[in-house]
Amino acid sequence: MMECQSWPEPVIRVQALAESGLTRIPDRFIKPESHRPTTRGSVGGGGINGDINIPVIDLGAGSGAVERVAEACREWGFFQVVNHGVRPELMRKAREVWREFFEQPLGVKEEYANSPTTYEGYGSRLGVKKGAILDWSDYFFLHYKPSCLKDTSKWPSLPSSLREVIDEYGAEVVKLGGRVLKIMSRNLGLEDEFLLKAFGGEEELGACLRVNFYPSCPQPDLTLGLSPHSDPGGMTILLPDDHVSGLQVRRGNDWITVKPASDAFIINIGDQIQVLSNAIYKSIEHRVIVNSNKDRVSLAFFYNPRSDLLIEPAKELVSEERPSLYTPMTFDELRYIMGDVVAPNQCSFVHGRQSLDNVVIFQEVINYMRRKVGGKRSIYAYEDSP
Ligand code: OGA
Ligand code: NI
Repeated sequence: MMECQSWPEPVIRVQALAESGLTRIPDRFIKPESHRPTTRGSVGGGGINGDINIPVIDLGAGSGAVERVAEACREWGFFQVVNHGVRPELMRKAREVWREFFEQPLGVKEEYANSPTTYEGYGSRLGVKKGAILDWSDYFFLHYKPSCLKDTSKWPSLPSSLREVIDEYGAEVVKLGGRVLKIMSRNLGLEDEFLLKAFGGEEELGACLRVNFYPSCPQPDLTLGLSPHSDPGGMTILLPDDHVSGLQVRRGNDWITVKPASDAFIINIGDQIQVLSNAIYKSIEHRVIVNSNKDRVSLAFFYNPRSDLLIEPAKELVSEERPSLYTPMTFDELRYIMGDVVAPNQCSFVHGRQSLDNVVIFQEVINYMRRKVGGKRSIYAYEDSP
């Protein structure tokens, strides 16, 4: 069933390519004209949207903060938080160890080269379509939770402090995620623990980290660091680069460039919370642009439901006037039907944003898949089925 054990063609390490000093990027990275960052509707980088930013919320500001989070989740699907409880020193160290990792010789990084079966490790592409147009970035992907998937021996051993720093960083960010989940539950009029329970509780929920490295690019107008996508999981807690911006969030027909506040995290709603909230909270499309003179590093921490739990709109948010918009489905199932391979947190990249809104039509596919694997709801069940 899992045909895609390896990459369909030799992997191009974008950082090595950028460091080779080329002045024109290979055709494989050139986006069709309508997808390029300079086309109309991409004016957030200093044009007419230059002053607009996603909401910045002080989490220490009591009930005012709670209301602002609610509004941001409904209106933007994105917000930044300051006063979030994670020490700035730890944030700085987390960025620093990953920068050091990417600065090492290619041979060192290649020891962690990943494959499309689990995506864990050092990678440079998402999806296995031969001849696909590629994004201008490399990454490192690792699991933090649940504990059965956390294997620190797969994390880089150099720099020597990386494992320890990332272990502590993960614990703190998971804590922050729990806090935000509580605020969101309350804002939706649900009991405080509702979303955490729907995710399977503290022990069972999923958490993984993708560290993105966007090398500087000689022709930034022709390509993207990350193509437009929504995050398929629960919520993403992003630590952006402290020197270079690049993340753009869709707002109608425009792309708004996020201006990171100092020591802030950028949080966005993923597809699973959109489903649980019956689309009151939005999982919004976003992308990354690159620039001609600076590398950029970001740490995207994905906070997800346990992957084999059924996720469906909360009963309290379904009524005659507002019927359920989604078919009950596990995170694994969603990824399976949206991607051509199990790609944790990456399937939306493969098939595009509209997928979540089309899931209702996949009911038949799901019924068929479930019959085939005897009603088991874990994606891993499909691996051994004929
Ligand atoms: C992601 C993502 C944004 C960034 O990793 O899913 O959207 O700024 N990253 O790197
Ligand atoms: Ni994303």
